[in-house]
Amino acid sequence: MESFRKTAEERLARIEQLESEALEADAIRRKLHNQIQELRGNVRVFCRVRPTTSETAIVDCAPDGTSVELKRSDADVAGFEFDRVFGPSSTQCEVFDEVSQLVQSALDGYKVCLFSYGQTGSGKTHTMLGDQHNEETRGIIPRAVAKVVEASEANAKKGWKYRMCASYVEIYNEQVRDLLKAGSGHSDKHSIAHVDGVTEVSGVNKEPVESVEAAAGLVRRAAAARAVEATQMNAVSSRSHTIFMLYITGEHEASGSRLTGCLNLVDLAGSERVGRSGAEGARLKEACAINKSLSCLGDVFQALSNGQKHIPYRNSKLTYLLQPCLGGDGKTLMFVNINPEAPSAEESMCSLKFAAQVNAVELGRGGAKRNIVSGIGKKEDKEDSSSGDKKPDDKKKVGKRPATARTAAGAAKKSKR
Ligand SMILES: Nc1ncnc2c1ncn2[C@@H]1O[C@H](COP(=O)(O)OP(=O)(O)O)[C@@H](O)[C@H]1O
Ligand SMILES: [Mg+2]
Repeated sequence: MESFRKTAEERLARIEQLESEALEADAIRRKLHNQIQELRGNVRVFCRVRPTTSETAIVDCAPDGTSVELKRSDADVAGFEFDRVFGPSSTQCEVFDEVSQLVQSALDGYKVCLFSYGQTGSGKTHTMLGDQHNEETRGIIPRAVAKVVEASEANAKKGWKYRMCASYVEIYNEQVRDLLKAGSGHSDKHSIAHVDGVTEVSGVNKEPVESVEAAAGLVRRAAAARAVEATQMNAVSSRSHTIFMLYITGEHEASGSRLTGCLNLVDLAGSERVGRSGAEGARLKEACAINKSLSCLGDVFQALSNGQKHIPYRNSKLTYLLQPCLGGDGKTLMFVNINPEAPSAEESMCSLKFAAQVNAVELGRGGAKRNIVSGIGKKEDKEDSSSGDKKPDDKKKVGKRPATARTAAGAAKKSKR
């Protein structure tokens, strides 16, 4: 009996030890995972395929979580590879888990930008905004705001004092509208300027974000004000870009350090070509302007990818507004949203090709930069993320993607067309 008890006690102790080792290993795994994410570079592309009940789904997501195939026929299969591919059964929570590190970066003093790109009905708004009244199905914007508020409260214990404020704007036919000002329309009067590398839109509300509830209220107000128009493709299709801009400043009194970060969450207008959405007359002008600003966005990525000296940010309001994030100092993540149904094959192909082009972009050689003024020695320059002041997000930037990564463009070329 006594020996039984002794054996049981020994086993329990062993289990405890193994459990603690497993926890430690998990922490190391997570850390390495984060480092890999950083090494992948500062422009990343995630693909998300929306669910469908249709029997004609022609998009397959591989179990590896990074490849996706568009099968237009047995002989015509195009394969693409992205940093991450979310299949139709992916949850909002899984998606946010993958982007939350980037949200943390904004708190650490980076300029961060997240887009959702794709044709109308492909799941852009679902991904970005989702159902704000539902814990499970709410999207990136409400989750990101909650995370930032919570994280700033946690950092307060370490002596950081954060101030956050937000604007929520819509760009429609190159005109800006303030979604936080009830009843305001689109207007040319809002001009965009960059003050110390921070985007300012004149005449739009910048409201303090002090609690999760306040932030949720603000997001709800803006969402309600969004312009939606019916087209043949989707009864409530969005014909404009909406941009949620969160400005973050942090101060560490004891050391005299000060940082400024920002988080831009962008729900882009539908990428579909004019013909298919049945646009005519005024709608046609609108669709052209939407396509123009999306093609400007493509031009900016192309110019960045080629390492051109002149990057055409000024060619559209959207790119000019996002310039600080898109340039070498920022971090950008694009979601390409895909509707897997057969009638959307052409649009899906266009979207995947656009995303492949974005995926090939490599930002400035030094990697993203934290915008922090260190109290020690009052260094005024922007601090490179690989230097000094260690924060959880600080990682050495070494090149871009691992050499083994098959680029989406390359993958598309390799596959049978
Ligand atoms: N991943 C998803 N899971 C569940 N429903 C989705 C998903 N993606 C899109 N939907 C639904 O499909 C419809 C169209 O999506 P939406 O986000 O409005 O498209 P978009 O903004 O690209 O036009 C909505 O009813 C949305 O709730
Ligand atoms: Mg939408």
